[in-house]
Amino acid sequence: MNIGTPLSPSATRVMLLGSGELGKEVIIALQRLGVEVVAVDRYPNAPGQQVAHRSYTIDMTDGVALRALVTQEKPHLIVPEIEAIAIDALAEIESSGLSKVIPNPRAVQLTMNREGIRTLAAETLGLPTSPYAFASSLHEMQAAIDSGIGYPCFIKPVMSSSGKGQSRVTAPDQVSAAWDYAASGGRVDSGRVIIEGQIDFDYEITLLTVRANNADGNIETYYCDPIGHVQVKGDYVESWQPQPMNLNALQRSREIARAVTDNLGGLGLFGVELFVKGDAVWFSEVSPRPHDTGMVTMASGRFSEFELHARAILGLPVDVRLREPGASAVIYGGVASTNLVFEGVADALAVPDSDLRLFGKPESFVRRRMGVALATGRDIDEARERAKLAASLVRPVAV
Ligand SMILES: Nc1ncnc2c1ncn2[C@@H]1O[C@H](COP(=O)(O)OP(=O)(O)O)[C@@H](O)[C@H]1O
Ligand SMILES: [Mg+2]
Repeated sequence: MNIGTPLSPSATRVMLLGSGELGKEVIIALQRLGVEVVAVDRYPNAPGQQVAHRSYTIDMTDGVALRALVTQEKPHLIVPEIEAIAIDALAEIESSGLSKVIPNPRAVQLTMNREGIRTLAAETLGLPTSPYAFASSLHEMQAAIDSGIGYPCFIKPVMSSSGKGQSRVTAPDQVSAAWDYAASGGRVDSGRVIIEGQIDFDYEITLLTVRANNADGNIETYYCDPIGHVQVKGDYVESWQPQPMNLNALQRSREIARAVTDNLGGLGLFGVELFVKGDAVWFSEVSPRPHDTGMVTMASGRFSEFELHARAILGLPVDVRLREPGASAVIYGGVASTNLVFEGVADALAVPDSDLRLFGKPESFVRRRMGVALATGRDIDEARERAKLAASLVRPVAV
């Protein structure tokens, strides 16, 4: 893989579709390797736009606008960082030879909708998942619960992330509110939901799985150490690496991650979400890109998940080794503001072996993720305590 000079005719150009906090770190990793990066998002001054060579604000579900921008910028690679993208346009861009989509258009399409990836995992690949059904009306949803899924169950829009529009339903009188919430919280209001029976897991993990070229130039699959995490209302609040696991469960987790990522194909890093109870492992979902819980790798990994993704997509070798136990803890906005100030940053950074990422989002909401505290420690307990302490010392205030 040759890399050219940015902003010259020889440049290696990459376009990020979606430029939030995860995209921002991918951009920084690419730029350190001398790549010219174009950041695209749906709103101006998104985190990644602030660090890219050029940035654009377009509606990425608009296939005509997307194709026009790709024709103008001629990126060698297109890296989708979000799920709401005009997938037909992406497929057409790749098949016409204009650019290459990471990891590939089919993987992006299958994972952007819970129906695609769940059907692939459970029915095509035969992997264990929670019991599930899909519904397009409140009536169908109630029927699916009554005819087997039961309570408690999870209701999620088929297109959503970070817990948006998701509810846990424990009794019949909550079903109709869950339908309304899903209809309002989905990213694209398709009016379709997945109903999932609850898995009573001991813990849940993200297994970062990387498809990258090995020394012989063949694609090989590499696994980072498992990441444990805590989710509140479907949104991650804390993660750590390595999550201790018994060997059978770890082996099974890798087999499941392997089956899914082999099928999706292409080069890059995937975040495979799994539920674990004893030796039993269930597939939950997968991101064909860096994962929010994987931000911990900025503290714990020899290379972060963002650096691993950058290397893999460029056809370069990866090194997935853990450096030391680490943890991350999310900093929420706590208040709605377009003029947020973070107090207590010095106190947070005085916590031993801590670090911060403040994403620079132009607008905060009470439950919007505005930053993350990172820490390392002797073990994950110490790292978690430090990360949580550092996060708690940062006080966002509206001025
Ligand atoms: N079927 C389930 N059983 C148990 N917990 C679940 C189930 N579905 C979701 N959850 C919990 O909710 C979290 C978010 O669900 P997920 O499907 O990953 O949504 P998102 O795409 O928004 O991340 C999971 O990480 C898990 O903690
Ligand atoms: Mg998830």
